[in-house]
Amino acid sequence: MKESNIKEAFDFFKPENCVFVSSVDKNNNPSWMVAAWNMKCSLKPPLFAVTLSKKWNTHKLIQKSKEFVISVPNKELEEALLFFGSTNWNEINKFQETKIETEKSKFIKTPLIKKATINFECELFKEVDIWKGIIFIWKILTLVFFNEVM
Ligand SMILES: Cc1cc2nc3c(=O)[nH]c(=O)nc-3n(C[C@H](O)[C@H](O)[C@H](O)COP(=O)(O)O)c2cc1C
Repeated sequence: MKESNIKEAFDFFKPENCVFVSSVDKNNNPSWMVAAWNMKCSLKPPLFAVTLSKKWNTHKLIQKSKEFVISVPNKELEEALLFFGSTNWNEINKFQETKIETEKSKFIKTPLIKKATINFECELFKEVDIWKGIIFIWKILTLVFFNEVM
């Protein structure tokens, strides 16, 4: 028998399915991050949850805007995934730096990622404070495919 720690135990869940998480500031400028701590919650109503650290800028944008886009990455977006997952908006303006192609959303201000496998437009359903982070639960308003995936 071997005693372990929580970090080592959680590593057994790897590889994780990462998603892009984005929202907008008061001038409707978008910013993106990457979240591996995500889960489907319900089909009716359609709900999806993401745990975000309070340290990240995206968390602050979401708390103000109450809206959010989840985009599912693919091989074409590998570079963007690394960039958005390893840079912070307060150090670098991701909106200006990135060449990522976006498309207007139907119901919210946050844009969709054009090359993503699928984009979910979401509005805030519930938030649960877990000390250093927040579990945001989202209601999916609509979903948009830009590519043929099936
Ligand atoms: C593969 C990967 C998975 C990540 N998953 C999460 C996550 O689930 N929750 C979280 O708060 N941060 C996660 N991060 C960290 C943020 O994506 C990252 O720190 C980002 O730079 C925050 O940007 P922001 O300050 O502009 O919001 C992950 C990073 C990577 C590379």
